[in-house]
Amino acid sequence: MAKLRLDKYLAEMGCGTRSQVKEAIRKGRACINGEPVKSVDRKVDTTTDQVMFDKQPVSYVEMEYYMLNKPAGVVSATEDHRHKTVLDCIHQKQRSDLFPVGRLDIDTEGLLLITNDGALCHQLLSPKKHVDKCYYVETSENIPEETAALFCEGVDIGEQTLTLPAKLELLSPTSAYITICEGKFHQVKRMFEAVGTKVTYLKRLSMGSLVLDSSLAYGEYRTLTDSEIRALKGEV
Ligand code: URA
Repeated sequence: MAKLRLDKYLAEMGCGTRSQVKEAIRKGRACINGEPVKSVDRKVDTTTDQVMFDKQPVSYVEMEYYMLNKPAGVVSATEDHRHKTVLDCIHQKQRSDLFPVGRLDIDTEGLLLITNDGALCHQLLSPKKHVDKCYYVETSENIPEETAALFCEGVDIGEQTLTLPAKLELLSPTSAYITICEGKFHQVKRMFEAVGTKVTYLKRLSMGSLVLDSSLAYGEYRTLTDSEIRALKGEV
């Protein structure tokens, strides 16, 4: 039985900022179990109490997990003044504190996990965890023959150390799958630049155990299944 202050409950569920919902509660816009409640610190039982805000039911969800097939042109941020963000793509979201787990460049497409689970985010992004990320890549020039061997040894992308071993699987002279286990800024693009070619298209296909659902068109999303969540957390 989880108990939460009414103002926190409503703010977390996207009804407004903490100060906006406080003001709204004081004006009588919130009800618990059919009774108007004007005290902002009234405790809500998130499992049994029925909360209404502006006469609309507001149910509580502690964690949300979405898989988005990110389209090009959308930024991996929670807010942006110029571009649509990946959060704007998630129309079904309930919580106000969702964020993308890591970043894809504006022109990169494919798998992006969106959640409010900070512990899982840390588990997936911590440089110490070496979580594999697989991308499909197309290049402007033929990928040199020795690239797979070079990527396997690590390449100089201008950082203090070489990149960690990465796996390259050629699909054609100008396309490949690449699997990396770190997440340096523009890493895949910089790795291909280091071998003399330019990435013209990049799409993430997987992150750890999570694989992009091929039925999702660009810009579409779905919630993760329980088994996908458990697998990501390392519980299976
Ligand atoms: N590497 C890149 O260069 N860009 C991305 O968006 C992801 C990985």
